[in-house]
Amino acid sequence: MPDLIYLDNAATAFPKPSSMIDSMAQFYREYGVNPGRSGYDLAVEAGLLIDRARRTLDTFFNNPAHDYNRLTFGNNASDALNLIIQGICRPGDHVVSTKLEHNSVLRPLYEMQERGVITHELVPFDTDGFVDPEQIARRIKDDTRLVVVNHGSNVLGTVQPIAEIGRICRERGVTFAVDVAQTAGVIPIDMAAMQIDVLAFTGHKSLMGPTGIGGLAVGPDVPIRSTRWGGTGVKSAVRTHLEEFPFRCEIGTANTIGIAGLQAGLEWITERGINRIREHEMELTRILTEGLQDIAGVTVYCAGWSDRHLPVVTCNVADMEAGETGMILDVEYDIATRTGLHCAPLAHVGIGTAPKGAVRFAIGPFNTEEHVRTAVEAMQEISVLRQPRSA
Ligand SMILES: Cc1ncc(COP(=O)(O)O)c(C=O)c1O
Repeated sequence: MPDLIYLDNAATAFPKPSSMIDSMAQFYREYGVNPGRSGYDLAVEAGLLIDRARRTLDTFFNNPAHDYNRLTFGNNASDALNLIIQGICRPGDHVVSTKLEHNSVLRPLYEMQERGVITHELVPFDTDGFVDPEQIARRIKDDTRLVVVNHGSNVLGTVQPIAEIGRICRERGVTFAVDVAQTAGVIPIDMAAMQIDVLAFTGHKSLMGPTGIGGLAVGPDVPIRSTRWGGTGVKSAVRTHLEEFPFRCEIGTANTIGIAGLQAGLEWITERGINRIREHEMELTRILTEGLQDIAGVTVYCAGWSDRHLPVVTCNVADMEAGETGMILDVEYDIATRTGLHCAPLAHVGIGTAPKGAVRFAIGPFNTEEHVRTAVEAMQEISVLRQPRSA
């Protein structure tokens, strides 16, 4: 696909670094066995790879627990958020979250409320796409167990004031969980400084890993329980699932090839420098946003290029349906975007774009100035289709 302009990096980063792809092939060529606790060399090597990735991510998120086994692996952010919500909440608990959440938070909350286990409240966001921490503070009650907040919106690209929310939660004694699916690898995340108790990450977006790998970083004193039980590879005679980390949050054979790729993705980010990647992406975001804002009939929602924004620009062309705009971008211009509700329907309700949604451009490290300038030109031409014809 030499001509494709890929601007769907919020869905998954593409392309991926070749070092990441090579590391996955190397795993299966050289030591692709079950890490388990067997003593033979290859099993030890596979186990060491997992340990190394736990340490890398533990340091990356600056977990104040200083126990790398509290970095646990699962499938993706959705899997980790399910574990957080179901593993922390007890019957009768109250949860506070926001209207910016992805369905990976909303649906577990709806489901648990439906089953009569919890109640929840969702805090709105302002016209610029930000949640006011005071609104969260006002909703915390005696029975509030958990506050769960999306760090960076996959629809609006706005970054929430996590440290301020963290301070409030710590003062009120409420567990604070953060969905860093869109921010990990884009913005430095410091669990200690931001007072994050537990976070959910996914490997295939800005961490530049493959799909199928994600997990949790569990801080000290987080009352999370196992929600699934099974093999751990150790202490097989014990009848109950192991309480100790990482087993508490993991079951079965690990996705070792995914972990190999994620480790290589992290190394690639670290070598390039997260700040350098961000500078590049935000400069492209500025060019794209300004270009789109200059087009008559195009509405851009909450985008910006400050330190409170991600390289995500969401817009619509006059009354054209987002799906149609995306289809023209794809078919006529070979530009890949994501249209619709982006699994975050309440974000679209908030900006008035539900139920049809909007067109999302999401920039990644491999995009160039030419890519975003071509996207602006394409949108300019598409918008002309919607201009009233002169007589
Ligand atoms: C903000 C946010 N949270 C959670 C997720 C879920 O990530 P995954 O599909 O990797 O589970 C996404 C994916 O788009 C997201 O954007």
